[in-house]
Amino acid sequence: MRNVVGIISAAALVMLLPASALASKAFFPPGDGNVANGEKIFKEGKGEVPACTSCHGEDGTGNDDLATPRLSGQFFSFLLKQLEDYASDARQDMTMFVMNANAKGLTPQDRRDVATYLAARKVDFGGSDIPALKENGQPVGEVWKGRKLVEIGSPVRSDGYPSDLSSKGKGIPACKSCHGYAGRGAPPVYPMIGKQRYTYLVNQLKNLREGKRANDPMGQMQAVARKLSDEDIHNAAAYLTNAHPTTPGNIRTPYDH
Ligand code: HEC
Ligand code: HEC
Repeated sequence: MRNVVGIISAAALVMLLPASALASKAFFPPGDGNVANGEKIFKEGKGEVPACTSCHGEDGTGNDDLATPRLSGQFFSFLLKQLEDYASDARQDMTMFVMNANAKGLTPQDRRDVATYLAARKVDFGGSDIPALKENGQPVGEVWKGRKLVEIGSPVRSDGYPSDLSSKGKGIPACKSCHGYAGRGAPPVYPMIGKQRYTYLVNQLKNLREGKRANDPMGQMQAVARKLSDEDIHNAAAYLTNAHPTTPGNIRTPYDH
């Protein structure tokens, strides 16, 4: 019996190898732009384009009052795609109506450079300050329900019993299945959504649900977002913004005793 277990775990180890190889930098290039030019654009802007820091913060971690996203540490390929999508109007900035002009004001090489700089930028960012948002009167969901949605989704069970309390078995796939554990991202296509700004997450999920943002490949994300209620969105964002990318944290749910 012990041998069988040994063989199985050895086989499991071998099966794990290609996955870790896939996650390596060799498979996912960190960006090949000019970091110095990217940094200059980020901090000083260029021509008519204002400094990115003015809205995304000195450290590039975004701002909940302005509803801007964290950019530092996001994947190169995703950042570049978003800048290209703003430049071609495939994505509209529905928040401040500035990003389309900003992206168009940069050359393709500039966009590549700033995406390279941001992707490589390491920041110690814990996510949005949820108590502060609540104090400002922003609706904030429940972390444990959000975590459930991210990890297991809300599958429709064959007995019809709702398997998720917040979303009543609506056939929502686990966010994790595309965006990775705790929303830490699965490059090159699936962005990091963990440790992203709460307000930004909520806005994008609503935009994607309503078709105001439609630049996702094959409508993959819109199909998911259409199944989400406001409550689901607030719950998922409440969990994701502070989700630790590597450790599960406290797994207990706040049931009354
Ligand atoms: C005047 C404010 C402002 C400035 C300046 C600004 N941004 Fe933005 N940016 C925003 C807002 C608001 C959004 C969210 C837009 C939306 O809802 O689609 C955004 C979104 C983005 C996104 C999309 C991120 C994602 O996760 O999808 C990228 C990339 C980005 N900005 C890069 C930049 C860069 C690079 C610069 C400097 C060249 C810059 N921004 C300057 C306000 C700004
Ligand atoms: C079938 C795969 C898939 C699943 C499942 C999925 N997503 Fe996505 N999601 C995507 C793709 C692809 C994009 C990137 C769109 C783009 O390139 O503009 C995306 C983008 C996003 C964005 C925008 C990020 C940004 O920085 O602009 C958010 C927020 C998001 N997803 C949240 C979620 C949540 C919450 C769930 C679970 C309820 C979920 N996603 C499940 C595929 C998926």
